[in-house]
Amino acid sequence: MTGDMKGGMRDDVDTPAARIRFDQVSVDFPTADGSMRVVDGVSLDIANGEFVSIIGPSGCGKTTLMNVVGGFVAPTSGTVLLDGRPIVGPGPDRGVIFQEYGVFPWLSVRGNIEFGLKLAANRVPAAEREAICQRYMALMGLSDFADHFPKHLSGGMRQRLAIARAYAVKPEFLLMDEPFGALDAQTRSAMQDLLLQVLATEGKTVLLITHSVDEAIYLSSRIVVVTARPARVRRIIDVPFGYPRDGRLQENPQFAHLRTEIRELVMQEYAAQARQTSGVAANTAD
Ligand SMILES: Nc1ncnc2c1ncn2[C@@H]1O[C@H](COP(=O)(O)OP(=O)(O)OP(=O)(O)O)[C@@H](O)[C@H]1O
Ligand SMILES: [Mg+2]
Repeated sequence: MTGDMKGGMRDDVDTPAARIRFDQVSVDFPTADGSMRVVDGVSLDIANGEFVSIIGPSGCGKTTLMNVVGGFVAPTSGTVLLDGRPIVGPGPDRGVIFQEYGVFPWLSVRGNIEFGLKLAANRVPAAEREAICQRYMALMGLSDFADHFPKHLSGGMRQRLAIARAYAVKPEFLLMDEPFGALDAQTRSAMQDLLLQVLATEGKTVLLITHSVDEAIYLSSRIVVVTARPARVRRIIDVPFGYPRDGRLQENPQFAHLRTEIRELVMQEYAAQARQTSGVAANTAD
């Protein structure tokens, strides 16, 4: 049946290889001065098991792109398909780590990690739930804080809790918006390696937003550099390293070469964004 459909009109849409497919996605937001385009004509396919990072200037539309996949924002035009189906809202198949660490302030550390495991969609028996909680609290260095509430945690600890919460339910897709931004350099590096380990054992499809070029290269199979607002695809870079990876990769001359290339692109987009902003400032000053 699928063989018969090959070459048919919907062949591109039915390609099993694309687990996440952006097709000419644009997003406009209303503002006091009319509508503002934040994402413009983004097309991108993400295959099963791929790790795709998005990098681009602050305020250009990266979180908005991720929110479309998360089911929190509907595109103004174009579509995003998940396994060939349009996204109609959030779902347990997608574990989301929000930029502002999405933890529930009214639940303890343990309560936050257990939350997803108790949802009907992924209900896990109590004994197993406890084992998963213990495992992630230990991995994230939060075991001594099981009964603490987020307001009594540091920013980095809250971020580690948000990561634990997303990993605990073993989602097929991980959508991570600057998940390691609030961590010190040592913890950040440990969290990157832990993520690689989780992916090696559980195999997920990942979309990561980061401002760190090194982090993007170290973790990703592809890197999408997006433009100053509105976010468009500026360039897609294949990262030529296989997995597993470890810290030695960063000594590789090819790593340094990629870093230079991507930094240059990102700097150009920051400069373009600065020109837009100063243009606005100059106009308002006149
Ligand atoms: N719900 C919304 N309503 C109106 N404007 C919005 C909304 N969400 C985001 N914006 C605007 O869209 C633009 C892009 O925001 P977005 O959060 O996607 O940027 P970003 O690339 O993630 O930035 P950063 O790197 O700083 O996190 C910003 O100008 C922001 O003010
Ligand atoms: Mg953002």
